[in-house]
Amino acid sequence: MQKISIIVAIGANREIGKDNDLMWHLPVDMRFFKEKTLGHPVIMGRKNYESIPEKYRPFKDRLNIVVSSQPNYPATGCVLFQDLTQATQYAKEQDAQEVFIIGGGQIYAEAIRLKLINTMYITHIDGEFPGAHTFFADFEISDWNRLELFRQEKDEKHQFSFSVYEYTKKN
Ligand SMILES: NC(=O)c1ccc[n+]([C@@H]2O[C@H](COP(=O)([O-])OP(=O)(O)OC[C@H]3O[C@@H](n4cnc5c(N)ncnc54)[C@H](OP(=O)(O)O)[C@@H]3O)[C@@H](O)[C@H]2O)c1
Repeated sequence: MQKISIIVAIGANREIGKDNDLMWHLPVDMRFFKEKTLGHPVIMGRKNYESIPEKYRPFKDRLNIVVSSQPNYPATGCVLFQDLTQATQYAKEQDAQEVFIIGGGQIYAEAIRLKLINTMYITHIDGEFPGAHTFFADFEISDWNRLELFRQEKDEKHQFSFSVYEYTKKN
């Protein structure tokens, strides 16, 4: 089965960002993101693209796709689309195995609303993040099977513990 996957980290209240940035630094979760997405297309919104430090974008060894309504938006080294459905279709043609939708909030919400995805990797962080500006869309939990992939406890590099789950759409 070709996987069309969201990958996201969320706080206890589904917080995902503030001031166009993340609100945590969790190296093991960043490594999980890298290992999962390496070699596969990643689709992101224009604001998420801008939130990635220039030295890390486009993400290496991945086809980077940016969605923006601006036809000439300069996303160097990326493929630009003005429509998420078309971007996803293009990505599916490039990789028979898996395509990743990597946010942010608007793009996740659209992907869920348009039913573009069949898999979600969600890092559930054991923390609340007051003042967040961006949240992960609500989704119908009963539509999904959930499998815990691993758990990370707090340590000197991780201010928060978290659990990573794979959600698979029920038929
Ligand atoms: N916690 C996590 O795992 C995670 C992951 C990724 C991002 N984030 C956070 O999420 C935040 C950014 O999310 P966001 O919701 O503000 O923005 P976003 O979803 O990254 O980008 C929104 C932009 O994408 C374009 N867009 C969206 N839908 C479109 C459509 N149907 N057609 C054409 N263009 C479309 C528009 O760009 P134009 O305005 O150019 O038209 C829109 O302004 C940041 O704080 C970031 O750090 C968190």
